[in-house]
Amino acid sequence: MARKLLLEHDSVPGIETFEVYKKHGGYRSVEKALKKMSPQEVVEEVQKSGLRGRGGAGFPTGMKWSFLAKPEGVPRYLLCNADESEPGTFKDRYLMEKLPHLLIEGMIVSSYALGANLSYIYIRGEYMWILDILEKAIDEAYAKGYLGKNILGSGYDLDLRVAPGGGAYICGEETALIESLEGKRGNPRMKPPFPAVKGLWGCPTVVNNVETLMAVVPIVNDGGDEYAKIGIGKSTGTKLISAGGNLVRPGVYELEMGLSVEEFIYGDDWCRGIANGKKLKACVPGGSSVPILPAHLVTKTAAGETRLMTYESLADGGFASGSMLGSGGFIIFDEDQCIVRNTWNFARFYAHESCGQCSPCREGTGWMEKVLNRLEHGQGNLRDIELLEEINKKIEGNTICPLGDAAAWPVAAAIRHFREEFEWHVSHREESQTRNYGLLKESLVG
Ligand SMILES: Cc1cc2nc3c(=O)[nH]c(=O)nc-3n(C[C@H](O)[C@H](O)[C@H](O)COP(=O)(O)O)c2cc1C
Repeated sequence: MARKLLLEHDSVPGIETFEVYKKHGGYRSVEKALKKMSPQEVVEEVQKSGLRGRGGAGFPTGMKWSFLAKPEGVPRYLLCNADESEPGTFKDRYLMEKLPHLLIEGMIVSSYALGANLSYIYIRGEYMWILDILEKAIDEAYAKGYLGKNILGSGYDLDLRVAPGGGAYICGEETALIESLEGKRGNPRMKPPFPAVKGLWGCPTVVNNVETLMAVVPIVNDGGDEYAKIGIGKSTGTKLISAGGNLVRPGVYELEMGLSVEEFIYGDDWCRGIANGKKLKACVPGGSSVPILPAHLVTKTAAGETRLMTYESLADGGFASGSMLGSGGFIIFDEDQCIVRNTWNFARFYAHESCGQCSPCREGTGWMEKVLNRLEHGQGNLRDIELLEEINKKIEGNTICPLGDAAAWPVAAAIRHFREEFEWHVSHREESQTRNYGLLKESLVG
């Protein structure tokens, strides 16, 4: 069985309470960091660990922390991004539900490293029951002296608050999150200035994902070098994957970076293969915004290399034949699934969630949804496929935040790898609504 750093104790009864969490080694990193390490030393361990942000972009956490401006007399903030709204991604929900104290512990140590005395967990509006779990755990941490004034007699003060969003995907984008936390509409800001210089209330701010902040705990406990020994190359440590779709055993898994995609899909310790004896048709490995991979590119790269669960291997081949690890929202499609229908479904989501601030995204996501809707429902023509490609090019790279790219990439990849299926929807207008192209074309499935 693979090593677990975050989910080691997730099945222990009562682990969401302070007592049980502490009994299983919880809060050791706070005692170590606050009593034996300087803030700079904590930052250095995170740098050594090679930890990369688990929210989707994979930016090196230690480097992000080192960019934080430190003007005298100005507060600094750490914001935990718990907005988790990317379709296919549900790992942070599991982590917070089961291990609220691990998040609090990670936030205390990280806030200490960054010199923040007030930190927030910005949580997705639909996760209201988790807000209760977190608030209860935070109350316990205050009562035990791990939050508040002079934590464990170290002289360090930290207040931690939970702020719920209103249920908008865009508020997961870090500057939209900051706007929302300030009480405004969640529209992304122009960058620069980056939050590290001008973030919450105009002050230096770091935004990190739930899983990223939790990973700081084993890094402080065991040292950055130990953490960096797990994984391959620049993909260090473990990664939480929320596996969904047509799998025998979907769920939330913690794997060591470098596990092969084949082992993850078919292995007994993992997802145990495609459900109902069906064949694999496609995989979206990192949440709805990353390019879809057809069956022949899921377990092997175009060059014939074994595809691994790492940032690099999943991206191998660029957008021509690769994808991204993204947020770890791993979605499997079996031979019965319609790629046009799924692409339309994702496009509907992005059209609904575009904040409307940038014209290419506001107009383009709406157009893509309309065109895909008519293709899926037997009303499209061949020109529509070209039209989708044109709209894509107009959105990509032309917006303030990456939501536009996130909407464009899945459509471009679906056409790139499954063009025949789009064309079939045009040539078989009625049939495309009642039968599935994948079932008719054996060549598409692996
Ligand atoms: C539209 C959009 C939605 C996003 N949603 C989330 C989210 O729900 N959670 C998250 O951690 N990052 C999300 N991100 C990425 C954040 O902007 C940011 O990169 C991340 O929180 C940084 O944390 P990390 O470095 O620990 O990954 C989103 C980005 C975009 C463009």
